[in-house]
Amino acid sequence: MAALKVTPLHPALGAEIAGVDLGKPVDASTRQALSQALAEHLALVFRDQSLTAPQYLAAAAAFGPPMEQHYGQHNMPDFPLIGLIWHRNGQQPAERWHTDHTNRERPPAATILYGVEIPSAGGGTSVASMRAAYTALPADERRRLDGLTTFNSLDSGRTDTRPEDEDKYGKPIQHPMVRTHPVHGSRAVYFHITKATHIDGMTPDASRAYMSDLLDRMIRPEITYHHVWRKGDVLVIDNRATMHRAHGDYDRSESRVLWRIIVEGDRPRL
Ligand SMILES: [Fe+2]
Repeated sequence: MAALKVTPLHPALGAEIAGVDLGKPVDASTRQALSQALAEHLALVFRDQSLTAPQYLAAAAAFGPPMEQHYGQHNMPDFPLIGLIWHRNGQQPAERWHTDHTNRERPPAATILYGVEIPSAGGGTSVASMRAAYTALPADERRRLDGLTTFNSLDSGRTDTRPEDEDKYGKPIQHPMVRTHPVHGSRAVYFHITKATHIDGMTPDASRAYMSDLLDRMIRPEITYHHVWRKGDVLVIDNRATMHRAHGDYDRSESRVLWRIIVEGDRPRL
């Protein structure tokens, strides 16, 4: 087993992992250690990686089988399991807090980002612990959330969704608003404000207002790790117990290219 060194980056979440070259095969015991580290720290940073697309896919598989991403127009032509996050591809930075792909019955356990081209300033990624957010809520609100579910679909208001993606990924999927982490055993708040059409039993407007209010109250610096990108970074985000957002505060004449892989997860359960 590689000598894995785990250094926390923030009191609530995030850790830098040293001693692993993701360009080489990851053995079973290192996989196990990484899975535990992700469950505990929720965001893992590997620095100074140099990966081809096949090497990146092989490394990502240490966290689970890579799964297809919707909005397939942004996928890498020869490697469709890698999504290109690149504004010159017509994408807007995802600046609202969210967890990925909640419109799947089994949403991704993790989202993995590889920094290929990084602007000279700005363009970071923030990750907030929804485990810490849940713990910080008043007990009566935790109880209320424990009983709520959302219905999820593709984002409303997008005009560039391909019909084949709409057919495959646009069907309503119900998820609990609080989920138990399958590895860690703790609970976390779980929803995607623009993929949730509504909370069961509430109108779409009331649902959106409640989720927006929750985000305002939950997301605080104490539970947020802000990642400042360096070329060669790999950031692994645990989608089961965090939300994340991009920062669009960079010069658009510069390039920002991240390669994204999502890996299979469990069906969320309370
Ligand atoms: Fe995302």
